[in-house]
Amino acid sequence: MEIHFISPFDKIAQVTLNESILGRANRNGIVNYHFYNLYDFADPPHHSIDDSPFGGGVGMILKPEPIFRIIDKIIDENSNRNKYRVLFPTPDGEVFNQQIAKELSLEENLIFISGHYKGLDQRVRDEFVTDEISIGDYVLTGGDLPSLVIIDSIVRLIPGVIGKIESAETDSFTNPLLDYPHYTRPENFRGLKVPEVLLSGHHGKIENWRQEKRFEKTKTRRPDLLAKIKN
Ligand code: ADE
Repeated sequence: MEIHFISPFDKIAQVTLNESILGRANRNGIVNYHFYNLYDFADPPHHSIDDSPFGGGVGMILKPEPIFRIIDKIIDENSNRNKYRVLFPTPDGEVFNQQIAKELSLEENLIFISGHYKGLDQRVRDEFVTDEISIGDYVLTGGDLPSLVIIDSIVRLIPGVIGKIESAETDSFTNPLLDYPHYTRPENFRGLKVPEVLLSGHHGKIENWRQEKRFEKTKTRRPDLLAKIKN
């Protein structure tokens, strides 16, 4: 998978995508990350990337030219435009979930536009953006963290990225119920004991216990998920 990351502050993403599992996926050749800093593609002499909104209002709007130049360059250097999904994280997008992550993990080329300031010139959205995604009903200072959240959830689903595929398959949200509690050694830590059943070696009982815990947790935290299963 080729992931292109467009941002005024691409260093945030460079550091994150170089570490841990996401960095290892890159070193193993499973995913390549490409970074584009908006200022590098802005017009001299001032290299400004934003301007005030036509029609008035507060906040600055990201200008279209640097982003058009970057996307033209990506498409020219690689292949045709139809092969790209262009993602723009924004609080007014479709709310992200595991199903969307799965679908995106099958793509070969993704372009992320991380906005900042008040907004992005609508012509970029109309011309290039295929997916406008919100990571939840709250507002962040910019699109870098949402882009990274989305990238993390996609890349870990690509075969070979995490050790055992089961660890992705038993995740909350892949199963319609939330995850069950996990324990490891020691059995007794400061008087806090691991539930007996997990030490019993009885696979049927363990499975039942886990299923019960999943159900209880989902019922208290996410009754909306249970309602979906019933329908
Ligand atoms: N940019 C700012 N807040 C955001 C959110 N909640 N989701 C996606 N992009 C955003």
